[in-house]
Amino acid sequence: PTVEHVKITVIGCGYLGATHAACMAALGFEVLGIEIDPTRRSALERGVLPFFEPGLPELLVEQVESGRLRFSADIAEAAAFGDVHFVCVGTPQRADGHGADLTYVEAAVTSLAAHLTGPALVVGKSTVPVGTAERLQEILQSQSPAGDQVELAWNPEFLREGFAVKDTLEPDRLVFGVRSERAEATLREVYSTAIDGGCPVVVTDFPTAELVKVAANSFLATKISFINAMAELCDVTGANVVTLADAIGYDERIGRKFLNAGLGFGGGCLPKDIRAFTARAEELGVKDALRFLHEIDRINLRRRKRVIKIARKELGGRLPGKRIAILGAAFKPNSDDIRDSPALEVAHTLHELGVHVTVHDVEAIEPARTKYPDLSYADTIEEACAEADLVMHLTEWLEYRAVDPAKLGEVVAGKRMIDGRNCLDIDAYREAGWTIRSLGRP
Ligand code: UGA
Repeated sequence: PTVEHVKITVIGCGYLGATHAACMAALGFEVLGIEIDPTRRSALERGVLPFFEPGLPELLVEQVESGRLRFSADIAEAAAFGDVHFVCVGTPQRADGHGADLTYVEAAVTSLAAHLTGPALVVGKSTVPVGTAERLQEILQSQSPAGDQVELAWNPEFLREGFAVKDTLEPDRLVFGVRSERAEATLREVYSTAIDGGCPVVVTDFPTAELVKVAANSFLATKISFINAMAELCDVTGANVVTLADAIGYDERIGRKFLNAGLGFGGGCLPKDIRAFTARAEELGVKDALRFLHEIDRINLRRRKRVIKIARKELGGRLPGKRIAILGAAFKPNSDDIRDSPALEVAHTLHELGVHVTVHDVEAIEPARTKYPDLSYADTIEEACAEADLVMHLTEWLEYRAVDPAKLGEVVAGKRMIDGRNCLDIDAYREAGWTIRSLGRP
């Protein structure tokens, strides 16, 4: 079928699904998004998102108005409508902390299967433990009236929050885990715009496709923890981790990206994915192979303790009763996501230690307030820093780099700054009379 004829459904319209549905419609496909929550559904139709993602609200409205994108709660309607069904539901960390919770993925595939009466391709996008696709394929073919006319493919997603639309429309690679030429041809059709634009396609089996996703995130986490381990060395030797990263980054085999030392990684993906991956390795009897990821996690969590230790030292050894301004609550800039946010966890811990904490963020104040209503929040940087004994820069929004240290110095009680992301202009702060400490820079 040609683009106009392939009909696409997207099951689960959270972060990944909403983006995927809007982008597929933008490419010219007729798309039906399946979202069970009615409030969420009507919000999606109006381009109102429960999260901050530049460009996505406008794209949703445009595609809904074009008539190519609709939303529904009805899985039977999805089965009747689509040729290709993308499964985009979440795979959160299990309550016991060990591995991924596959309830939603299994429910989506089971309920869809029951209604599929003719040929269809079901494409998994969620991040799952290796071996899941195999099982889902069995569920699909055994429970669908169409039997083996229905096929599964695994097509992991690599989008980054803050760049979701661009990453979906212009991916740097496509991975197709397929069992037939027909499945491969259908995916090539769906992604023809990117492929014609030169995007490389890796065609492979199910387990490789599943592993690519977690391997990529594990590698990224490893890069960050590697440079953070180097920052620990820099701190005790007087070396500069930023210069070190620049110097090793010039080697193309290493590369400078993801070597920004600081407070470490958070968010809904990297931390949960490395933990789920180690849990899966243990189940597969190869625990030792991924033991290092446990260390990657520990290095990462140590950063949060380290920054609090520096704060205590800067404030003369005692934290209770002190006023600290925290710049940043989101897990990274250009996002309002506070899941496993290093900045917010540090703010919360300081509060628990008896510090008067005031938090500022460019987009994440509301979600932060909902999670930690006991902390104080400020709408402006100046308000957050008013009378502060110490300012901590923990999420590197561009807005914070644009601050004039001399002006900020006028509102604080003590000109003390900790740069938890190693990107403020140390010299400018020192010239304005501040003491500034970094995580890995002298
Ligand atoms: C990550 C991956 O980058 C995506 O490719 C992947 O698709 C996604 O997870 C996913 O699995 O869905 P994301 O969670 O949006 O994307 O965030 P990143 O941009 O990767 O940043 C992750 C964390 O690492 C942030 O807390 C960031 O502050 C931190 N980080 C990043 C550093 O501490 N140093 C760096 O040099 C880079």
